[in-house]
Amino acid sequence: MTALTRMFSHALHSSCVVMRSPCCLLTSTKTLILRLSRHARLPRVYSIYHCQALRCFCTDHSQSSKPYYITTPIFYVNASPHIGHVYSAVTADCLHRFKLLQGYNSRFSTGTDEHGLKIQQAASNAGEDPLNFCTEVSQSFKHVFQRCGILYTDYIRTTEKRHRQAVEHFWTVLHSKGFIYKGTYEGWYSTPDESFLTPTQVIDRIDSEGKPIKVSMESGHKVEWMKEDNYMFRLSDFRTELLHWLRLNPNIIRPVKFHHLVLQWLEDEIPDLSVSRQKSRLQWGIPVPGDPEQVIYVWLDALVNYLTIVNYPQNHSQWWTSVHHVVGKDILKFHAIYWPAFLLAAGLPLPQTIFVHSHWTVEGKKMSKSLGNVINPLDAMEKFTVDGLRYFLLRQGVPDSDCDYYDDKVNKMCNSELADALGGLLNRCTAPSLNPTQVYPHFCNTCFPKELCGKAVSEDYRMLEAVSALPVLVELHFENLHIYKALEAISACIRLTNAFVQRHAPWKLDRKDPGDQRWLDTILHVSLECLRIYGILLQPVVPDLADKILSRLGVTPEERNWDSLNFLMRYEGRDCGLEGRALGPDLGVLFNRLERSQVKGRTHKMAKSKSQ
Ligand code: ME8
Ligand code: MG
Repeated sequence: MTALTRMFSHALHSSCVVMRSPCCLLTSTKTLILRLSRHARLPRVYSIYHCQALRCFCTDHSQSSKPYYITTPIFYVNASPHIGHVYSAVTADCLHRFKLLQGYNSRFSTGTDEHGLKIQQAASNAGEDPLNFCTEVSQSFKHVFQRCGILYTDYIRTTEKRHRQAVEHFWTVLHSKGFIYKGTYEGWYSTPDESFLTPTQVIDRIDSEGKPIKVSMESGHKVEWMKEDNYMFRLSDFRTELLHWLRLNPNIIRPVKFHHLVLQWLEDEIPDLSVSRQKSRLQWGIPVPGDPEQVIYVWLDALVNYLTIVNYPQNHSQWWTSVHHVVGKDILKFHAIYWPAFLLAAGLPLPQTIFVHSHWTVEGKKMSKSLGNVINPLDAMEKFTVDGLRYFLLRQGVPDSDCDYYDDKVNKMCNSELADALGGLLNRCTAPSLNPTQVYPHFCNTCFPKELCGKAVSEDYRMLEAVSALPVLVELHFENLHIYKALEAISACIRLTNAFVQRHAPWKLDRKDPGDQRWLDTILHVSLECLRIYGILLQPVVPDLADKILSRLGVTPEERNWDSLNFLMRYEGRDCGLEGRALGPDLGVLFNRLERSQVKGRTHKMAKSKSQ
């Protein structure tokens, strides 16, 4: 036994201590469970009861109606939505749904970023009026997100009046506090990234026509030299304060790899930031209050969207103290340095969490219009279904590193994990041939007693322990944006339950024999209890499939939240409200297997894509 295990064991033995422990113990207990789960199987002493006691402890129910506010980036309207955008939205959607199930009052915003040079040029290239151009693409983002089951509560466009008012107010506050001054900016600018770069952030390249150019080291996009009188923000004043904030709060930027990256960036001096452009170059934006010759820098404009949503400056405070951002790694600098500095300058609280994810490539290459490999989410959903695509993105998306998308991989994953493992389990355990009365079967304590003296074997007890520990693990992984690890853990448990059914082959039992019938019912009861837990936990990821599972089991909408994760109460000698209740009537297949040829035949690249 390691010291860690001993501590854990001690905590478990005194479950009243665990239940009443102060909040500070919460994190360490969660860490212990996580470490333990990696170490080995939980020893028998960690009974279901203990795991459930801990789960109650880990979910702080006093937080019930606490606000939670989660955001995605607002997307540029120069490109049509692709699976990268959908990934950010599905990730935030998953966290939003998870928080709702925990009883939080969760709010979830997304939308489009419509100002700036890049959009001005894209509209001009398309020969369209900028606002019409923006409206069209913004609608297509909305459509894709709705189609994908993204349950956003707020959708924002930066061309809306409410946003302009918020940005003007925010600017005026920074200006009146002396954080904005008039100066001359001279340096590199990348229009595709709408980003200023220092000489150390650019490198020499040769373009497709053989001409020498400079590009951004990070994005590879071309940069141009610019020199202009405009307004500057005193970013350099905030370096020490930002360092202090991040060192004091190592959990703000998750996963931790990105926290270290930002700390590393902050090791060097950071220059002041140009926060406006001359109107002669940029017309498509919000004019600087009191100076119509200057237009506000698109990133200052865009970041304020998070405040606009919650009604800044009128009554934002209730939500603003609970804001969590989901962003791609490409825009980490803007969210982890510029944005907190702006907020500090405005005297506003800083974000609670910045969840960062890496990028999707397609068959090993960066998605790009010129390569013609941009994946249209509508096509992907048609091929794999909404939940098939959502499951794949969240199961395969490792936020720490880039992930590769190809149709075959989605196909295989959906077939093996959704159709075969999960669908097969549901189908087997609810089959009328095994359960002709179609009610939630009864559990028999003599067949499956607390000690190893009934019909259950030691592997069965280990499965119970694994499923009991699952909710806590899933919660921890969600909180760390390791959704793929949560799904990996669920998938491992589904395999255990399938093995349990296989091991005891209930179809071989003699239903005329009362002993066999009791054992058969017990096997089915345990399996359905496992499925109920998987169904509840999977709701944030695959809402439609989870609904099908839970409806088939006869679980009512009120019995689907995080509080209902009380696994196998009958084993503990407690009542199970589902026992004897009629199962849901839908005998249909949970997830239809996808044929490879069918997927291949339907593969086509994005028909219409604006410039990337
Ligand atoms: O940067 N893989 O907008 P944007 C995963 N308007 N995620 C991807 C991705 C990929 N290949 N490509 C894009 C902007 N994303 C600004 C944001 S916020 C105040 C302003 C996702 O249209 C990812 O979240 O370029 C990335 O950060 C975002 O889309 C960039 O979208
Ligand atoms: Mg971009």
